[in-house]
Amino acid sequence: MLDVNVTRKLHEERFGLKPRVFAAPGRVNIIGEHTDYADGFVMPAAIDFATFAAISAHDDGRIEVRSENYHDEVAYELSGLPERRIGHWSDYPLGVISVLREDGVEVPAFSLTLHGDVPVGAGLSSSAAVEVSTMAAVLSLTDARIPLPRMAQMCRRAENGYVGASTGIMDQFIACCGAENHALLLDCRSLEYRLAPIPPDVRLVIANTMVKHSHAGGEYNTRRAEVEEGTEILRRHRPEIRKLRDATMADLERWGNEMPPGVLKRTRHVITENARTVAAADALECGDLETLGQLMYAAHVSYRDDFEASCHEADVMVELASKEEGCIGARLTGGGFGGCTVNLVKAACARQFSVNLYKRYREVTGIDADVYLCHASAGAHEVDL
Ligand code: GLA
Repeated sequence: MLDVNVTRKLHEERFGLKPRVFAAPGRVNIIGEHTDYADGFVMPAAIDFATFAAISAHDDGRIEVRSENYHDEVAYELSGLPERRIGHWSDYPLGVISVLREDGVEVPAFSLTLHGDVPVGAGLSSSAAVEVSTMAAVLSLTDARIPLPRMAQMCRRAENGYVGASTGIMDQFIACCGAENHALLLDCRSLEYRLAPIPPDVRLVIANTMVKHSHAGGEYNTRRAEVEEGTEILRRHRPEIRKLRDATMADLERWGNEMPPGVLKRTRHVITENARTVAAADALECGDLETLGQLMYAAHVSYRDDFEASCHEADVMVELASKEEGCIGARLTGGGFGGCTVNLVKAACARQFSVNLYKRYREVTGIDADVYLCHASAGAHEVDL
């Protein structure tokens, strides 16, 4: 975990002013993949990797944004901010400023230092952590009072519109509304959510395959387009199907033959994943860890075979995990095509599990994986002195 005092000090040294500091976490998704933009259900947890946004106001009409991770800095006149992405890390904070202004928030001049330890390209939502921490920090300089769920929607707009990745609401929502020691079941249509406690004798172990993934462009957007295509075909028969959330397996059995084979599989994944996610939340709430674990394994198979968003390394990682003592469930988490697996592990076995998983994965793939023993953490907040 990063030390917030280091971030404060770096900010003071660079900008000569004492900052206020806001934190937003990364996340791991326990179950519910590519269901958010289908208005379905997801069940992520915020984790103890975060981005700190240290901010101080000044009055020279400029904004300065420094990234301690990239050792780089940008500065603009408030009147001359770029209107769209320039393909740079600063797209994320600048996208947030753009959305705030669109919504009528008067953004003042400021200096901002971003400093985080959410692994980048690992499927743990480092970008949402940057967006949400930036928004919380900038809002602290204004009179605007924006509730957390709306902040999540605004940060998503920054990512969709400004940065150009057509992601759903999950990552920004959990970065805003996550709670210590809880998973969050989110209805991505109504944005109603329930917090389900993670039992104290269970650990979240995140295993990084070290295969990088990226959202901006690429396969994520292709998959999303296929899901839209499947939805459109079903909608022709049942116009009340606005999103796949409204479709059932019976619909698919009836009209799936009109879909190209790939589209049929993507559609099937989303419909079955929604059902698994709701069942998983019930299982977690009843303390039925065995059912929860089975649902996670089934979700991985569906992600691998129907959504075709896994990769060889992730399949190996899940398979190896499933053989280890104390493993309740394992699957590839996040947008897909690399990144991390999430493992629910009995606390008493978690250390040995992590050591063994690292070793076995190295034997099979030759890759040194990062394995993180995490715990579910709080959403966006100000870090007190
Ligand atoms: C990424 C996106 C999310 C979600 C997941 C897949 O993390 O940002 O909105 O679609 O992929 O579940």
